Amino acid sequence: MKNGLTKTRKVVVIGTGFVGSSYAFSLLNQGVVNELVLVDLNREKAEGEARDLNHGMPFGSPMKIRAGDYQECSNADLVVITAGANQQPGETRLDLVTKNAKIFRSIVSTIMDVGFKGIFLVATNPVDILSHVTLEVSGLPKERVIGSGTILDTARFRYLLSEHFEVDSRNVHAYIMGEHGDSELPVWSHVQIGGIPLSRYANIEKIEEDKEMQAIFENVRDAAYHIIERKGATYYGIALGLVRLTKAILHNENSIVTVSTLLDGEYGLKNVFLGVPAIVNEYGIRQVVELDLNEKEQKQLENSASILKEMTNKALG
Ligand code: LAC
Repeated sequence: MKNGLTKTRKVVVIGTGFVGSSYAFSLLNQGVVNELVLVDLNREKAEGEARDLNHGMPFGSPMKIRAGDYQECSNADLVVITAGANQQPGETRLDLVTKNAKIFRSIVSTIMDVGFKGIFLVATNPVDILSHVTLEVSGLPKERVIGSGTILDTARFRYLLSEHFEVDSRNVHAYIMGEHGDSELPVWSHVQIGGIPLSRYANIEKIEEDKEMQAIFENVRDAAYHIIERKGATYYGIALGLVRLTKAILHNENSIVTVSTLLDGEYGLKNVFLGVPAIVNEYGIRQVVELDLNEKEQKQLENSASILKEMTNKALG
């Protein structure tokens, strides 16, 4: 019974594969939303996931979880898209663009046909390009189409730095920017540990030439390949990143996180989705945070943007 006083935080997740179901499980554990609808082409799968999650309700946070169809998007605050083909061993994220762009055109147009007026959160790869496809097909304002971007890469970066320096990862501030993929870049110029610039904290004069630091970045960039080789897919890290973004949006947190958003002149780039630090709240992307990148970082970002622009033009046809 709605009394009009409580604001329902309703999320619809499209796709109940590894990522979608891990996201749902994380939401149940963290009590972020009060209504979660699972949509999948395989309705039985969605039903099974809903039942399994609901039976854990006494251990989690009270929320409504059910399987449903696209009609449920009409009054959703947030639609999270995890559906699509995922990387196979040896495949890059960009290799998925053609098949997933086709799937996205169908999914997003169906969602808009039922009158969706909320925010899209895109997780399927190649996430930067599929976020752009979502923007084009939906016609929503750009602040309401958010890609998970380099939120997971940034978390991996912070984690590996924290392990190396034996410091709580929550005290490591660092960004990975650019493509969520092989052309992403570490923003060494802005890494801080406990508020101290990394060069001073670690007493390393030229970080970008330091072998240990370079190895850390390569582990971040190639992490998904290493995990996919071992377990066939990645899903816990990205699911937790999606929950982080869900909280920033539905709890109006104004958090600075690295997400994929359409640039419109920031960093000297236009008409391309890629991972940048941005302030995220209940309206979506409030603003892009423009770091003072050094010359090498700026060039790497421009390289990432040109790779994405070329692939996006193909996907948009
Ligand atoms: C990864 C997937 C989400 O990086 O692309 O694990």
